[in-house]
Amino acid sequence: ESFDFGIVGLGVMGRNLLLNMADHQFAVAGLDLDIEKASSLEKEASNTHQVKGTTSPEEFVKLLKRPRAIMLLVPAGKPVDAAIGTLIPYLEEGDIVIDGGNTFFPDTDRRVEELSKKNIHFFGMGISGGEKGARFGPSMMPGGDQKAYERLRPVFEAIAAKVNGEPCVAYLGNGSAGNYVKMVHNGIEYGIMQLIAETYDLLKRGYNFDDDSLQKTFEEWNHTELQSFLIEITGEVLKKRDDETGQRLVNLISDRARAKGTGKWTSQNAMDLQVPIPSIDVAVNMRDISIYKEERLKASTLLPWNNPDNHDHAGDDAVKEKIKNAFYFAMITIYAQGMAQLHVASKVYNYGLDLEEVAKIWRGGCIIRALCLEDFRQAYKRDNNLPNLLLDNDIARSLIDKQGDIRTIIKDAIDKGVPAPAFMASLSYFDAYRSAILPTNIIQAQRDYFGAHLYERTDKEGTFHTQWD
Ligand code: 6PG
Repeated sequence: ESFDFGIVGLGVMGRNLLLNMADHQFAVAGLDLDIEKASSLEKEASNTHQVKGTTSPEEFVKLLKRPRAIMLLVPAGKPVDAAIGTLIPYLEEGDIVIDGGNTFFPDTDRRVEELSKKNIHFFGMGISGGEKGARFGPSMMPGGDQKAYERLRPVFEAIAAKVNGEPCVAYLGNGSAGNYVKMVHNGIEYGIMQLIAETYDLLKRGYNFDDDSLQKTFEEWNHTELQSFLIEITGEVLKKRDDETGQRLVNLISDRARAKGTGKWTSQNAMDLQVPIPSIDVAVNMRDISIYKEERLKASTLLPWNNPDNHDHAGDDAVKEKIKNAFYFAMITIYAQGMAQLHVASKVYNYGLDLEEVAKIWRGGCIIRALCLEDFRQAYKRDNNLPNLLLDNDIARSLIDKQGDIRTIIKDAIDKGVPAPAFMASLSYFDAYRSAILPTNIIQAQRDYFGAHLYERTDKEGTFHTQWD
Protein backbone atom coordinates (compact mmCIF):
# COMPACT_ATOMS: atom_id res chain seq x y z
CA GLU A 1 0.00 0.00 0.00
CA SER A 2 2.66 2.49 -0.88
CA PHE A 3 1.72 3.71 -4.33
CA ASP A 4 0.13 7.15 -4.71
CA PHE A 5 -1.74 6.55 -7.90
CA GLY A 6 -2.84 3.75 -10.21
CA ILE A 7 -3.27 3.73 -13.97
CA VAL A 8 -5.25 1.12 -15.88
CA GLY A 9 -4.39 0.74 -19.57
CA LEU A 10 -0.75 1.13 -20.46
CA GLY A 11 -1.19 2.22 -24.07
CA VAL A 12 0.53 5.42 -25.18
CA MET A 13 -1.69 7.80 -23.18
CA GLY A 14 -1.70 5.71 -19.99
CA ARG A 15 2.02 5.05 -20.10
CA ASN A 16 2.88 8.69 -20.77
CA LEU A 17 0.66 9.99 -17.98
CA LEU A 18 2.16 7.41 -15.63
CA LEU A 19 5.71 8.47 -16.46
CA ASN A 20 4.70 12.13 -16.15
CA MET A 21 3.45 11.40 -12.61
CA ALA A 22 6.62 9.46 -11.84
CA ASP A 23 8.70 12.45 -13.00
CA HIS A 24 6.94 14.42 -10.27
CA GLN A 25 7.99 11.97 -7.55
CA PHE A 26 4.69 10.12 -7.31
CA ALA A 27 4.83 6.35 -6.91
CA VAL A 28 2.58 4.94 -9.63
CA ALA A 29 1.31 1.45 -10.31
CA GLY A 30 0.13 0.40 -13.77
CA LEU A 31 -2.30 -2.35 -14.73
CA ASP A 32 -2.57 -3.88 -18.17
CA LEU A 33 -3.80 -7.34 -19.05
CA ASP A 34 -1.16 -7.46 -21.77
CA ILE A 35 1.92 -8.89 -20.04
CA GLU A 36 4.26 -7.21 -22.48
CA LYS A 37 2.89 -3.74 -21.68
CA ALA A 38 2.89 -4.39 -17.92
CA SER A 39 6.41 -5.76 -17.76
CA SER A 40 8.06 -3.26 -20.11
CA LEU A 41 6.98 -0.38 -17.89
CA GLU A 42 9.71 -0.80 -15.30
CA LYS A 43 12.36 -1.13 -18.02
CA GLU A 44 11.20 2.13 -19.56
CA ALA A 45 11.25 4.02 -16.26
CA SER A 46 14.40 5.76 -15.04
CA ASN A 47 15.99 4.84 -11.73
CA THR A 48 14.52 7.89 -10.01
CA HIS A 49 11.04 6.69 -10.89
CA GLN A 50 8.98 4.60 -8.53
CA VAL A 51 6.74 2.55 -10.79
CA LYS A 52 5.38 -0.96 -10.95
CA GLY A 53 3.46 -2.75 -13.67
CA THR A 54 1.20 -5.74 -13.13
CA THR A 55 -1.38 -7.83 -14.97
CA SER A 56 -3.28 -8.66 -11.79
CA PRO A 57 -6.18 -6.36 -10.81
CA GLU A 58 -6.02 -7.64 -7.24
CA GLU A 59 -2.32 -6.98 -6.83
CA PHE A 60 -2.73 -3.59 -8.53
CA VAL A 61 -5.48 -2.41 -6.18
CA LYS A 62 -3.58 -3.68 -3.12
CA LEU A 63 -0.50 -1.71 -4.09
CA LEU A 64 -2.36 1.59 -3.73
CA LYS A 65 -2.64 3.96 -0.76
CA ARG A 66 -6.19 4.51 0.52
CA PRO A 67 -8.43 6.16 -0.48
CA ARG A 68 -7.22 4.84 -3.80
CA ALA A 69 -6.93 7.01 -6.89
CA ILE A 70 -7.16 5.01 -10.10
CA MET A 71 -7.30 6.43 -13.59
CA LEU A 72 -8.59 4.41 -16.54
CA LEU A 73 -7.03 5.06 -19.94
CA VAL A 74 -8.87 2.55 -22.05
CA PRO A 75 -10.98 3.17 -25.17
CA ALA A 76 -14.33 4.85 -24.46
CA GLY A 77 -17.41 2.64 -24.29
CA LYS A 78 -17.54 -1.00 -23.21
CA PRO A 79 -13.83 -1.23 -22.25
CA VAL A 80 -14.48 1.35 -19.51
CA ASP A 81 -17.27 -0.76 -18.02
CA ALA A 82 -15.11 -3.86 -18.36
CA ALA A 83 -12.19 -2.19 -16.55
CA ILE A 84 -14.47 -1.01 -13.74
CA GLY A 85 -15.84 -4.55 -13.50
CA THR A 86 -12.40 -6.06 -12.96
CA LEU A 87 -11.54 -3.57 -10.21
CA ILE A 88 -14.82 -3.50 -8.30
CA PRO A 89 -14.27 -6.68 -6.23
CA TYR A 90 -11.17 -5.12 -4.65
CA LEU A 91 -12.24 -1.50 -4.23
CA GLU A 92 -13.43 0.00 -0.94
CA GLU A 93 -15.57 2.91 0.18
CA GLY A 94 -14.04 6.29 -0.57
CA ASP A 95 -11.88 5.02 -3.45
CA ILE A 96 -11.83 7.13 -6.61
CA VAL A 97 -11.97 5.90 -10.19
CA ILE A 98 -11.29 8.38 -12.99
CA ASP A 99 -12.09 7.81 -16.63
CA GLY A 100 -9.54 9.74 -18.69
CA GLY A 101 -10.98 8.92 -22.12
CA ASN A 102 -13.19 10.80 -24.60
CA THR A 103 -16.33 9.33 -23.07
CA PHE A 104 -19.83 10.33 -24.15
CA PHE A 105 -21.01 12.29 -21.13
CA PRO A 106 -24.28 10.39 -20.36
CA ASP A 107 -22.18 7.24 -19.87
CA THR A 108 -20.30 9.03 -17.09
CA ASP A 109 -23.54 10.07 -15.38
CA ARG A 110 -24.64 6.44 -15.39
CA ARG A 111 -21.33 5.26 -13.94
CA VAL A 112 -21.28 7.98 -11.28
CA GLU A 113 -24.66 6.77 -10.12
CA GLU A 114 -23.83 3.06 -10.22
CA LEU A 115 -20.59 3.47 -8.29
CA SER A 116 -22.02 5.90 -5.76
CA LYS A 117 -24.17 3.02 -4.49
CA LYS A 118 -20.90 1.46 -3.32
CA ASN A 119 -19.61 4.83 -2.07
CA ILE A 120 -16.98 4.87 -4.75
CA HIS A 121 -16.36 8.23 -6.42
CA PHE A 122 -16.35 8.21 -10.19
CA PHE A 123 -14.79 11.03 -12.21
CA GLY A 124 -15.01 11.74 -15.93
CA MET A 125 -11.96 13.68 -16.97
CA GLY A 126 -11.19 15.12 -20.38
CA ILE A 127 -7.50 15.07 -21.18
CA SER A 128 -6.18 17.08 -24.08
CA GLY A 129 -2.80 17.44 -25.66
CA GLY A 130 -2.18 14.09 -27.30
CA GLU A 131 0.79 11.87 -26.57
CA LYS A 132 3.26 14.66 -25.90
CA GLY A 133 0.83 16.48 -23.67
CA ALA A 134 0.27 13.37 -21.59
CA ARG A 135 4.00 12.92 -21.15
CA PHE A 136 5.02 16.52 -20.46
CA GLY A 137 1.90 18.45 -19.48
CA PRO A 138 -1.69 18.05 -20.68
CA SER A 139 -4.73 20.19 -20.02
CA MET A 140 -7.10 18.23 -17.82
CA MET A 141 -10.83 18.68 -17.30
CA PRO A 142 -12.04 16.70 -14.27
CA GLY A 143 -15.64 16.51 -13.08
CA GLY A 144 -17.09 14.58 -10.18
CA ASP A 145 -17.34 14.87 -6.40
CA GLN A 146 -15.75 18.13 -5.24
CA LYS A 147 -14.50 16.84 -1.88
CA ALA A 148 -12.99 13.73 -3.42
CA TYR A 149 -11.12 15.97 -5.87
CA GLU A 150 -8.84 17.14 -3.05
CA ARG A 151 -7.24 13.68 -3.05
CA LEU A 152 -6.42 14.09 -6.76
CA ARG A 153 -5.49 17.76 -6.83
CA PRO A 154 -1.77 17.51 -5.91
CA VAL A 155 -1.12 14.87 -8.57
CA PHE A 156 -3.06 16.61 -11.31
CA GLU A 157 -1.63 20.05 -10.57
CA ALA A 158 1.87 18.61 -10.67
CA ILE A 159 1.52 16.88 -14.03
CA ALA A 160 -0.59 19.50 -15.86
CA ALA A 161 0.78 22.00 -18.37
CA LYS A 162 1.59 25.35 -16.77
CA VAL A 163 0.95 28.85 -18.08
CA ASN A 164 2.80 31.51 -16.05
CA GLY A 165 3.07 28.95 -13.27
CA GLU A 166 -0.68 28.26 -13.22
CA PRO A 167 -1.64 24.62 -13.83
CA CYS A 168 -3.99 23.79 -16.70
CA VAL A 169 -6.32 21.73 -14.54
CA ALA A 170 -9.19 22.67 -12.25
CA TYR A 171 -12.14 20.99 -10.69
CA LEU A 172 -14.93 21.81 -13.13
CA GLY A 173 -18.17 20.55 -11.67
CA ASN A 174 -20.49 17.69 -10.85
CA GLY A 175 -21.14 14.44 -12.64
CA SER A 176 -20.14 14.45 -16.27
CA ALA A 177 -18.99 18.12 -16.30
CA GLY A 178 -15.44 17.12 -17.25
CA ASN A 179 -16.49 15.00 -20.22
CA TYR A 180 -18.93 17.67 -21.36
CA VAL A 181 -16.30 20.39 -21.30
CA LYS A 182 -13.90 18.13 -23.22
CA MET A 183 -16.60 17.36 -25.77
CA VAL A 184 -17.13 21.07 -26.42
CA HIS A 185 -13.35 21.56 -26.49
CA ASN A 186 -13.31 19.07 -29.34
CA GLY A 187 -16.22 20.81 -31.06
CA ILE A 188 -14.22 24.03 -31.01
CA GLU A 189 -11.21 22.03 -32.20
CA TYR A 190 -13.25 20.83 -35.20
CA GLY A 191 -14.38 24.40 -35.95
CA ILE A 192 -10.90 25.88 -35.89
CA MET A 193 -9.38 23.01 -37.86
CA GLN A 194 -12.03 23.56 -40.54
CA LEU A 195 -11.32 27.30 -40.50
CA ILE A 196 -7.62 26.61 -41.01
CA ALA A 197 -8.40 24.20 -43.86
CA GLU A 198 -10.55 26.85 -45.55
CA THR A 199 -7.86 29.47 -45.09
CA TYR A 200 -5.34 27.14 -46.69
CA ASP A 201 -7.71 26.45 -49.60
CA LEU A 202 -8.47 30.13 -50.12
CA LEU A 203 -4.80 31.06 -50.13
CA LYS A 204 -3.86 28.19 -52.41
CA ARG A 205 -6.73 27.87 -54.87
CA GLY A 206 -8.25 31.31 -54.43
CA TYR A 207 -5.23 33.61 -54.24
CA ASN A 208 -2.77 31.27 -55.99
CA PHE A 209 -0.20 31.21 -53.19
CA ASP A 210 2.61 28.77 -53.88
CA ASP A 211 3.49 26.14 -51.28
CA ASP A 212 6.42 28.10 -49.88
CA SER A 213 4.44 31.28 -49.29
CA LEU A 214 1.59 29.27 -47.83
CA GLN A 215 3.91 27.64 -45.34
CA LYS A 216 5.56 30.94 -44.40
CA THR A 217 2.22 32.65 -43.94
CA PHE A 218 1.11 30.17 -41.27
CA GLU A 219 4.52 30.32 -39.63
CA GLU A 220 4.33 34.14 -39.50
CA TRP A 221 0.80 34.12 -38.14
CA ASN A 222 1.92 32.15 -35.13
CA HIS A 223 3.75 35.28 -34.01
CA THR A 224 0.63 37.43 -34.15
CA GLU A 225 -2.71 37.54 -32.33
CA LEU A 226 -3.50 34.22 -34.08
CA GLN A 227 -0.83 32.47 -32.02
CA SER A 228 -2.14 29.02 -31.18
CA PHE A 229 -1.18 25.38 -31.23
CA LEU A 230 -3.27 24.63 -34.33
CA ILE A 231 -1.78 27.50 -36.37
CA GLU A 232 1.70 26.47 -35.21
CA ILE A 233 1.36 22.83 -36.25
CA THR A 234 -0.18 23.85 -39.58
CA GLY A 235 3.05 25.74 -40.32
CA GLU A 236 4.97 22.58 -39.51
CA VAL A 237 2.64 20.26 -41.40
CA LEU A 238 3.08 22.40 -44.53
CA LYS A 239 6.85 22.20 -44.20
CA LYS A 240 7.18 18.42 -43.95
CA ARG A 241 8.56 16.56 -46.98
CA ASP A 242 7.82 12.95 -47.84
CA ASP A 243 10.93 10.81 -47.25
CA GLU A 244 10.41 8.76 -50.40
CA THR A 245 9.38 11.29 -53.02
CA GLY A 246 10.72 14.52 -51.53
CA GLN A 247 7.35 16.14 -52.22
CA ARG A 248 5.44 18.05 -49.59
CA LEU A 249 3.75 15.33 -47.59
CA VAL A 250 0.49 17.25 -47.22
CA ASN A 251 0.03 17.21 -51.01
CA LEU A 252 0.12 13.41 -50.90
CA ILE A 253 -2.42 12.99 -48.09
CA SER A 254 -5.94 11.85 -49.01
CA ASP A 255 -8.66 14.42 -48.40
CA ARG A 256 -11.12 11.96 -46.82
CA ALA A 257 -11.33 13.18 -43.22
CA ARG A 258 -12.15 10.82 -40.38
CA ALA A 259 -13.82 11.57 -37.07
CA LYS A 260 -14.22 9.72 -33.81
CA GLY A 261 -17.47 11.40 -32.84
CA THR A 262 -16.82 14.14 -30.29
CA GLY A 263 -17.52 16.94 -32.81
CA LYS A 264 -20.76 15.28 -33.86
CA TRP A 265 -21.84 14.87 -30.23
CA THR A 266 -21.19 18.56 -29.64
CA SER A 267 -23.49 19.49 -32.53
CA GLN A 268 -26.13 16.93 -31.61
CA ASN A 269 -26.25 18.05 -28.01
CA ALA A 270 -26.23 21.73 -28.99
CA MET A 271 -29.41 21.09 -30.99
CA ASP A 272 -30.97 19.33 -28.00
CA LEU A 273 -30.17 22.33 -25.83
CA GLN A 274 -31.20 24.79 -28.57
CA VAL A 275 -27.81 26.46 -28.56
CA PRO A 276 -26.77 27.56 -32.06
CA ILE A 277 -23.20 26.56 -32.93
CA PRO A 278 -23.31 26.82 -36.75
CA SER A 279 -19.55 27.01 -37.27
CA ILE A 280 -19.03 23.72 -35.44
CA ASP A 281 -21.95 22.15 -37.32
CA VAL A 282 -20.40 23.00 -40.70
CA ALA A 283 -17.06 21.64 -39.54
CA VAL A 284 -18.74 18.28 -38.95
CA ASN A 285 -20.55 18.59 -42.31
CA MET A 286 -17.34 19.29 -44.22
CA ARG A 287 -15.61 16.19 -42.87
CA ASP A 288 -18.71 14.29 -44.01
CA ILE A 289 -18.70 15.86 -47.50
CA SER A 290 -15.04 14.91 -47.80
CA ILE A 291 -15.90 11.21 -47.58
CA TYR A 292 -17.98 11.32 -50.78
CA LYS A 293 -14.86 11.27 -52.91
CA GLU A 294 -16.26 9.36 -55.92
CA GLU A 295 -19.30 11.61 -56.14
CA ARG A 296 -17.14 14.71 -55.81
CA LEU A 297 -14.93 13.50 -58.62
CA LYS A 298 -17.94 13.05 -60.91
CA ALA A 299 -19.36 16.41 -59.86
CA SER A 300 -16.05 18.09 -60.55
CA THR A 301 -16.38 17.33 -64.25
CA LEU A 302 -20.11 17.99 -64.45
CA LEU A 303 -19.88 21.21 -62.45
CA PRO A 304 -16.36 22.34 -63.29
CA TRP A 305 -14.58 24.80 -61.06
CA ASN A 306 -12.29 27.47 -62.24
CA ASN A 307 -10.95 30.51 -60.53
CA PRO A 308 -11.37 33.64 -62.66
CA ASP A 309 -8.44 35.20 -60.80
CA ASN A 310 -5.15 33.92 -62.20
CA HIS A 311 -2.91 36.32 -60.30
CA ASP A 312 -0.51 35.10 -57.68
CA HIS A 313 -1.19 37.16 -54.57
CA ALA A 314 1.50 35.49 -52.49
CA GLY A 315 3.53 38.62 -51.96
CA ASP A 316 0.49 40.74 -51.33
CA ASP A 317 0.58 41.83 -47.71
CA ALA A 318 -2.85 43.41 -47.97
CA VAL A 319 -4.41 40.04 -48.84
CA LYS A 320 -2.55 38.31 -46.01
CA GLU A 321 -3.61 40.97 -43.52
CA LYS A 322 -7.26 40.71 -44.54
CA ILE A 323 -7.30 36.93 -44.26
CA LYS A 324 -5.55 37.10 -40.93
CA ASN A 325 -8.21 39.47 -39.60
CA ALA A 326 -11.01 37.37 -41.09
CA PHE A 327 -9.51 34.30 -39.42
CA TYR A 328 -9.30 36.09 -36.08
CA PHE A 329 -12.91 37.21 -36.34
CA ALA A 330 -14.20 33.73 -37.19
CA MET A 331 -12.00 32.06 -34.57
CA ILE A 332 -13.40 34.29 -31.82
CA THR A 333 -16.97 33.51 -32.82
CA ILE A 334 -16.20 29.78 -32.79
CA TYR A 335 -14.94 29.95 -29.20
CA ALA A 336 -17.95 32.15 -28.37
CA GLN A 337 -20.34 29.51 -29.72
CA GLY A 338 -18.68 26.71 -27.74
CA MET A 339 -18.53 28.75 -24.55
CA ALA A 340 -22.20 29.75 -24.98
CA GLN A 341 -23.03 26.05 -25.19
CA LEU A 342 -21.16 25.47 -21.93
CA HIS A 343 -23.05 28.35 -20.33
CA VAL A 344 -26.41 26.77 -21.15
CA ALA A 345 -25.34 23.18 -20.49
CA SER A 346 -24.08 24.14 -17.06
CA LYS A 347 -27.58 25.29 -16.13
CA VAL A 348 -29.44 22.41 -17.78
CA TYR A 349 -27.22 19.70 -16.28
CA ASN A 350 -26.43 21.51 -13.00
CA TYR A 351 -22.70 21.33 -13.59
CA GLY A 352 -21.90 24.59 -11.84
CA LEU A 353 -19.21 25.46 -14.41
CA ASP A 354 -17.02 28.48 -13.93
CA LEU A 355 -16.14 29.60 -17.46
CA GLU A 356 -13.25 31.72 -16.20
CA GLU A 357 -11.66 28.48 -14.98
CA VAL A 358 -12.41 26.75 -18.28
CA ALA A 359 -10.73 29.54 -20.26
CA LYS A 360 -7.83 29.44 -17.82
CA ILE A 361 -7.14 25.70 -18.18
CA TRP A 362 -7.46 25.87 -21.96
CA ARG A 363 -4.62 28.39 -22.23
CA GLY A 364 -2.01 25.64 -22.21
CA GLY A 365 -1.59 21.92 -22.85
CA CYS A 366 -4.69 21.36 -24.95
CA ILE A 367 -5.24 21.29 -28.70
CA ILE A 368 -7.23 24.56 -28.73
CA ARG A 369 -4.71 26.49 -26.64
CA ALA A 370 -4.29 29.98 -28.05
CA LEU A 371 -3.30 33.48 -27.04
CA CYS A 372 -6.93 34.63 -27.17
CA LEU A 373 -7.90 32.33 -24.28
CA GLU A 374 -6.37 34.85 -21.88
CA ASP A 375 -8.72 37.52 -23.30
CA PHE A 376 -11.67 35.19 -22.72
CA ARG A 377 -10.51 34.54 -19.19
CA GLN A 378 -10.43 38.29 -18.56
CA ALA A 379 -13.91 38.65 -20.07
CA TYR A 380 -15.30 36.06 -17.63
CA LYS A 381 -13.39 37.71 -14.81
CA ARG A 382 -15.26 40.93 -15.61
CA ASP A 383 -18.58 39.08 -15.70
CA ASN A 384 -18.62 35.49 -14.53
CA ASN A 385 -22.14 34.95 -15.78
CA LEU A 386 -21.55 36.27 -19.30
CA PRO A 387 -23.92 34.29 -21.58
CA ASN A 388 -21.86 34.96 -24.71
CA LEU A 389 -18.36 36.33 -25.29
CA LEU A 390 -19.80 38.60 -28.00
CA LEU A 391 -21.41 40.58 -25.18
CA ASP A 392 -18.05 41.52 -23.66
CA ASN A 393 -17.03 45.11 -24.51
CA ASP A 394 -13.41 44.36 -25.39
CA ILE A 395 -14.24 41.32 -27.49
CA ALA A 396 -17.07 43.15 -29.23
CA ARG A 397 -14.67 45.95 -30.14
CA SER A 398 -12.09 43.57 -31.60
CA LEU A 399 -14.79 42.01 -33.80
CA ILE A 400 -16.16 45.36 -34.95
CA ASP A 401 -12.61 46.31 -36.00
CA LYS A 402 -12.25 43.21 -38.15
CA GLN A 403 -15.71 42.71 -39.60
CA GLY A 404 -14.91 44.61 -42.81
CA ASP A 405 -12.12 42.17 -43.62
CA ILE A 406 -14.13 39.00 -43.09
CA ARG A 407 -16.84 40.42 -45.37
CA THR A 408 -14.27 41.08 -48.11
CA ILE A 409 -12.70 37.65 -47.75
CA ILE A 410 -16.08 35.92 -47.96
CA LYS A 411 -16.98 37.94 -51.07
CA ASP A 412 -13.69 36.84 -52.61
CA ALA A 413 -14.38 33.21 -51.69
CA ILE A 414 -17.78 33.46 -53.38
CA ASP A 415 -16.30 35.01 -56.55
CA LYS A 416 -13.53 32.43 -56.66
CA GLY A 417 -15.86 29.48 -55.97
CA VAL A 418 -13.82 28.31 -53.01
CA PRO A 419 -15.96 26.83 -50.22
CA ALA A 420 -15.68 28.78 -46.98
CA PRO A 421 -18.57 27.58 -44.82
CA ALA A 422 -16.82 28.09 -41.47
CA PHE A 423 -16.06 31.71 -42.36
CA MET A 424 -19.60 32.22 -43.62
CA ALA A 425 -21.31 30.50 -40.70
CA SER A 426 -19.22 32.52 -38.27
CA LEU A 427 -20.10 35.82 -39.90
CA SER A 428 -23.79 34.89 -40.18
CA TYR A 429 -23.78 33.89 -36.52
CA PHE A 430 -22.38 37.31 -35.66
CA ASP A 431 -24.84 39.12 -37.94
CA ALA A 432 -27.80 37.21 -36.52
CA TYR A 433 -26.72 37.45 -32.88
CA ARG A 434 -26.34 41.21 -33.06
CA SER A 435 -29.69 41.75 -34.85
CA ALA A 436 -32.24 43.40 -32.59
CA ILE A 437 -34.92 42.24 -35.01
CA LEU A 438 -34.74 38.99 -36.97
CA PRO A 439 -37.08 38.00 -39.80
CA THR A 440 -38.44 35.11 -37.70
CA ASN A 441 -41.70 37.08 -37.39
CA ILE A 442 -42.37 35.79 -40.92
CA ILE A 443 -41.85 32.22 -39.75
CA GLN A 444 -44.26 32.75 -36.88
CA ALA A 445 -46.86 34.19 -39.26
CA GLN A 446 -46.46 31.28 -41.68
CA ARG A 447 -46.79 28.74 -38.88
CA ASP A 448 -50.00 30.38 -37.81
CA TYR A 449 -51.23 30.57 -41.44
CA PHE A 450 -50.86 26.88 -42.22
CA GLY A 451 -51.09 25.27 -38.83
CA ALA A 452 -52.83 27.68 -36.45
CA HIS A 453 -49.70 27.53 -34.28
CA LEU A 454 -50.40 30.98 -32.80
CA TYR A 455 -48.01 33.90 -32.49
CA GLU A 456 -47.09 36.57 -29.96
CA ARG A 457 -47.20 40.31 -30.73
CA THR A 458 -44.79 43.10 -30.00
CA ASP A 459 -47.52 45.56 -29.02
CA LYS A 460 -49.64 43.51 -26.61
CA GLU A 461 -49.48 40.49 -24.30
CA GLY A 462 -50.95 37.10 -25.11
CA THR A 463 -51.05 34.64 -28.00
CA PHE A 464 -53.02 35.23 -31.17
CA HIS A 465 -54.44 33.43 -34.17
CA THR A 466 -55.52 35.05 -37.42
CA GLN A 467 -57.73 33.78 -40.21
CA TRP A 468 -55.16 34.63 -42.90
CA ASP A 469 -56.96 33.92 -46.20
C1 6PG B 1 -7.17 16.25 -27.76
C2 6PG B 1 -7.81 15.68 -28.99
C3 6PG B 1 -7.95 14.19 -28.88
C4 6PG B 1 -8.17 13.45 -30.20
C5 6PG B 1 -9.52 13.76 -30.83
C6 6PG B 1 -9.53 13.50 -32.30
O1 6PG B 1 -7.81 17.12 -27.17
O2 6PG B 1 -6.08 15.82 -27.40
O3 6PG B 1 -9.08 16.24 -29.18
O4 6PG B 1 -8.92 13.92 -27.92
O5 6PG B 1 -7.14 13.68 -31.04
O6 6PG B 1 -10.46 12.94 -30.22
O7 6PG B 1 -10.85 13.51 -32.70
P1 6PG B 1 -11.35 13.09 -34.11
O8 6PG B 1 -10.77 11.74 -34.42
O9 6PG B 1 -12.83 13.06 -33.98
O10 6PG B 1 -10.85 14.14 -35.05
